[in-house]
Amino acid sequence: MEKKHILHSGMFNDTLRRWNSSNCTLNPHNLMYPVFLIEEDDVIQPIASMPGVSRFGVNKLKTHLEPLIVKGLSSILLFGVIDKLPKDANGTNADSQKNPVILALPKLKEWFPTLTIACDVCLCPYSDHGHCGLLHEDGTINNGPSIKRIAEIALNYAKAGAHVVAPSDMMDGRIGAIKNALIANNLGNKVAVLSYAVKFASSFYGPFRDAACSKPSFGDRKCYQLPPNSTGLAMRAAERDVHEGADMLMVKPVLAYLDLLRQVKDAFPHHPMFVYQVSGEYAMLYHGAKAGAFDLQVAVMEVLHSCRRAGADVIISYYTPQVLDWIE
Ligand code: PBG
Ligand code: ZN
Repeated sequence: MEKKHILHSGMFNDTLRRWNSSNCTLNPHNLMYPVFLIEEDDVIQPIASMPGVSRFGVNKLKTHLEPLIVKGLSSILLFGVIDKLPKDANGTNADSQKNPVILALPKLKEWFPTLTIACDVCLCPYSDHGHCGLLHEDGTINNGPSIKRIAEIALNYAKAGAHVVAPSDMMDGRIGAIKNALIANNLGNKVAVLSYAVKFASSFYGPFRDAACSKPSFGDRKCYQLPPNSTGLAMRAAERDVHEGADMLMVKPVLAYLDLLRQVKDAFPHHPMFVYQVSGEYAMLYHGAKAGAFDLQVAVMEVLHSCRRAGADVIISYYTPQVLDWIE
């Protein structure tokens, strides 16, 4: 037998296994924790479609985050969810003075000075039609006004204190529009843009749309989110957003798109790569483990390591609180 084909001698204890995996470690700074923020400051609402995940009012979020930060949590991704505030065609309450994200940012920054705070920027949780852009009368996306409005919302989150703005709408030109708005307002060097660059029209977003109350009232998102079987559009989307000045790139979801995560990382090795383990993937692992198909911790860690192996620098995961314990 050729000696180079003898493998077991390299993996018979933990240290040897670590030596063979040192380019694929998982540390707290490799995790970003998505959180849903509601209008009522002292309320926690469990989300039925995502068992173990809740929406938080800002005071409850404080209590929830404190121990996680002690365990090394370094970044969160904020999603505002409104229930009492009205929704309209323009998504007025995405950045009004009553928006929960706008109100929470100064408090979170004061409570947690070491925490990097990213804000999802989109119209779907705030528009009455539930789509991610502004619409023509026939229901199609009106791109020009959409990116103008999205840039305005991003700028208002930036002014309220966001370190990172993360547009998830998938409109053409939004990254450039946001960058221009930030630079024009002297925030170009204080706020980073994390682009949901390679975001597919996926069946795995279902539980999130319940969580964020952002289901489209008609139609679907296939005319602006990417077709799952198109590598070409995926690579062009990454190229488009790099060209427009994105600081960081994302592929979303994870498991059905690991090939594209690797291809985008290889094509743009100088941009930090994010990957989003989305709500349906969270639920799938939760229910699989609950049904006895596998152990939750082992399965989640296996998936997270696959993300790192495929090229992710940061993984956005609802499992972050548990993972911080598992890797402690
Ligand atoms: C809204 C948005 C979605 C997600 C993040 N931002 C849903 C969608 O595009 O329909 C999905 C996140 C998840 O499923 O966990 N633009
Ligand atoms: Zn949206």
